[in-house]
Amino acid sequence: MIDKINFFPENLDVHNQKIILRLDLNVPLKDKAIQDDTRIALCLPFIKKLIEKKAKIIIISHLGRPKGTKVPELSLMPIYKYLKKSLSTSVFFFMGNLDEDVQNKFSHLKEGEIILLENIRFFKEESVNDENFAKKLGSLGDIYINDAFSCSHRKQASIHTITKYVKKSFAGPLLKKEVQAINLVVQNKKEPVTCIIGGSKISTKINVIISLIEKVNNLIIVGAMANNFLIYKNLKIGKSLIEKNTEETIKKIYEKANKNKCKIFVPEDCMVGSSFDSSGISKDLNTIEDNDIILDIGPKTIKSIKHTINQSNTVLWNGPAGYFENENFMSGTMSIAETISKNTVEKSLISILGGGDTLAAINKSKNKLSFTHLSTAGGAFLEYLEGKDLPGLSVLK
Ligand code: 3PG
Ligand code: MG
Repeated sequence: MIDKINFFPENLDVHNQKIILRLDLNVPLKDKAIQDDTRIALCLPFIKKLIEKKAKIIIISHLGRPKGTKVPELSLMPIYKYLKKSLSTSVFFFMGNLDEDVQNKFSHLKEGEIILLENIRFFKEESVNDENFAKKLGSLGDIYINDAFSCSHRKQASIHTITKYVKKSFAGPLLKKEVQAINLVVQNKKEPVTCIIGGSKISTKINVIISLIEKVNNLIIVGAMANNFLIYKNLKIGKSLIEKNTEETIKKIYEKANKNKCKIFVPEDCMVGSSFDSSGISKDLNTIEDNDIILDIGPKTIKSIKHTINQSNTVLWNGPAGYFENENFMSGTMSIAETISKNTVEKSLISILGGGDTLAAINKSKNKLSFTHLSTAGGAFLEYLEGKDLPGLSVLK
């Protein structure tokens, strides 16, 4: 459990030591502009601490899912520029190959300076947790620190196997804060517990849903994920996002929910558009046409979700309810956020939310919102809640 994780000791002397720092700088970008900087901003205090301690800092992160190829749109260049502007030290960007010569290429790094590596997922070896690649990464430094809780559910080279090839591995302060906060919520959770799951990473979340059924009273499915449930109920969804062959899984979800007396909510109505940047029309589920794309939940669904949140004592939420990037489809997500916040402030609801997209959506709100804990993590947060031993944490014990 958490008390076994080796956290970075605050007083550790790292003067002149080469530190490999794995961060999650995976932020939403549009035309190379950062849309939401929460994840980077949260990393800055610890980076500054390491600069102060005069360590030599090598930062590794991924961005998106380039699947082992160099996708220009997924370059960390905009994040590099952000770091350069936010930190008062020399920051270098390394876009080269990680070949045998790489250590020489890094030898210019002085105390308190930083090298940011280009998107680690440009290398296909990262995602398959390649032993040799992890060894090369490990050879870059003396100490490895994982401060990317949100990536710790990935069994990948810079998260998992790298720890075999460094002298010491630690969890960073941000990871510590995240894990402690989630533990606190899990230990103090009061029924009824409602879990809201949205977003579009469907296949990655379905297993989590199945195991969460045992732990929660209400499960609310929103976002593109809900489309699978609508199809299952023989409803038409037009051109909406859908994943094939999920029938068996959904059947299993309903069976398990029945057995565990967990109530499942799926949308009752929706907002559709003809494209992702169109305007929205509110529709009942039996009136969806062939060219419609479901891009948000509708007013009836919002009303019933609000009701469920008001009745709950604990709410866990991951993944937006719609395509919030377009203002016409953000009201589902905003209503959920505002209702959870209101209940957290006025009725001491225990609330915990997570995920890159969820954070980005919440930051679009004009009102100040309050939650018990806001996690940078989406998938990792859900798998941790599930009680899994995350591959990135088990190696830090
Ligand atoms: C996230 O956005 O959840 C993390 O950065 C991990 O990204 P991944 O799901 O692509 O591994
Ligand atoms: Mg994400």
